[in-house]
Amino acid sequence: MSEGKPAGGAGSSLPQAPLEAAEIGALTLTQMSAFASALIADGLENPSSPLRKPALATVGAGGLPAVRTVILRFADEAHRTLGFFTDARSPKVAELQQNPRAALLFHDPRCDMQLRLSGRAEIRVGDEVAWARAAAPSRRAYLVTAAPGTLSPGPVSGLPSDVEGIIPPLERLEEGRANFALIEFRVEERDMLILSRAGNRRARFRLEGGREAASWLVP
Ligand SMILES: Cc1cc2nc3c(=O)[nH]c(=O)nc-3n(C[C@H](O)[C@H](O)[C@H](O)COP(=O)(O)O)c2cc1C
Repeated sequence: MSEGKPAGGAGSSLPQAPLEAAEIGALTLTQMSAFASALIADGLENPSSPLRKPALATVGAGGLPAVRTVILRFADEAHRTLGFFTDARSPKVAELQQNPRAALLFHDPRCDMQLRLSGRAEIRVGDEVAWARAAAPSRRAYLVTAAPGTLSPGPVSGLPSDVEGIIPPLERLEEGRANFALIEFRVEERDMLILSRAGNRRARFRLEGGREAASWLVP
């Protein structure tokens, strides 16, 4: 590991700079896997981390790719799931209901590490546990009157006038719950890439028969 303070929050073991030759030379598949976990942990623990906002890719209408930024809300290592909040009326939800295959991209520019996850996502509209975890400012987004992506005659937030610029009381926020959805992403494959002047390294971890098979790949 690089010396000095880790880049992430408490518990994170991410280096704050690209790995040097000795560190690259000593990397094992176990360490590559641990870095992949550390990237996700940093996104969860550290609100200012670039890993907090991965890109979620889906198969869009007509089979075209679609990608957007989302905020990582939770991760469950044991079940290999990651959770995101979204508007149930947004195009990504219809896309995932049509085809659950999805991919996630995390990039840490501090240590030049990239993690690509592929798997399947399930949509849970109005999920009670996830809604309980959503803070008031997040909940307000689900009061937007028309579906995200609806054409507008001018620049708008889409929020009803009574909640524009304020966080309303909980009873009012509750009215948005029907528009709230949890995206539960189940990881099937992890692709971990580390860039370094000393030589790049890439490893793949793929679920096969319930177990994860690890392989080195040419970067
Ligand atoms: C920093 C940032 C964070 C975002 N987080 C979320 C999020 O957690 N959930 C979400 O649905 N959209 C989020 N968005 C908006 C999406 O990127 C996207 O524009 C919107 O959800 C519509 O996507 P869709 O048309 O593909 O469904 C975020 C955008 C930015 C810039």
